[in-house]
Amino acid sequence: MTNRELSPIDRLLAGADNALRTVAAPAGRAARDNPATPIEESNLSAAQKSHAAGLMRVNHAGEIAAQALYKGHATVARDKHIEQKMRQAAAEEFDHLAWCEQRIHELGESPSRLSPFWYAGAYAIGAASGLLGDKWSLGFIAETERQVCAHLDSHLDGLPAEDARSRAIVEKMRDEEAEHGENAVEAGAADLPDPVKALMRVTAKVMTKTAYWV
Ligand SMILES: [Fe+2]
Ligand SMILES: [Fe+2]
Repeated sequence: MTNRELSPIDRLLAGADNALRTVAAPAGRAARDNPATPIEESNLSAAQKSHAAGLMRVNHAGEIAAQALYKGHATVARDKHIEQKMRQAAAEEFDHLAWCEQRIHELGESPSRLSPFWYAGAYAIGAASGLLGDKWSLGFIAETERQVCAHLDSHLDGLPAEDARSRAIVEKMRDEEAEHGENAVEAGAADLPDPVKALMRVTAKVMTKTAYWV
């Protein structure tokens, strides 16, 4: 990324490029090692595999949305330092996305067929909240990451105890989501009104319930 100012058209093209790279199989392109790599595959039953794949498909859909949210925010961020932080978080989220995709394939299944839809929806929400100003968009990120952490904790309860490879990925993601949330708070996130938080929870529920199956 160069330091020159990007025109709105440059930003739009960069956004479209990222959308394609996100939705089109990033499994082999993580910048960091998959946390599951040193862990041996366990002997899972067909039912355990299918349940773990469903949960990892949900997490993958969440990471698609995270890419779009962060890129959507970054596109309209007013403060260059905040824009930089968002791009850095998006790079970590990209690794999460690739690790989830690798795990889904290992479990013999595929990511959500609705990925382009998750991306488009989250990008619009990210850009819209970004337009309200940095403190609100940071507030949106902080709350999103808080809800994602709670959600990943519930997956750690729900994943088969034997599935150490999936668990290693989810644990690493949970730690980094917590960090992303703390960074947003430190950068000046506003506390969102309760009805907005509730609406975010409902939206996330629709996505997670759907992506488990498709
Ligand atoms: Fe993530
Ligand atoms: Fe995150």
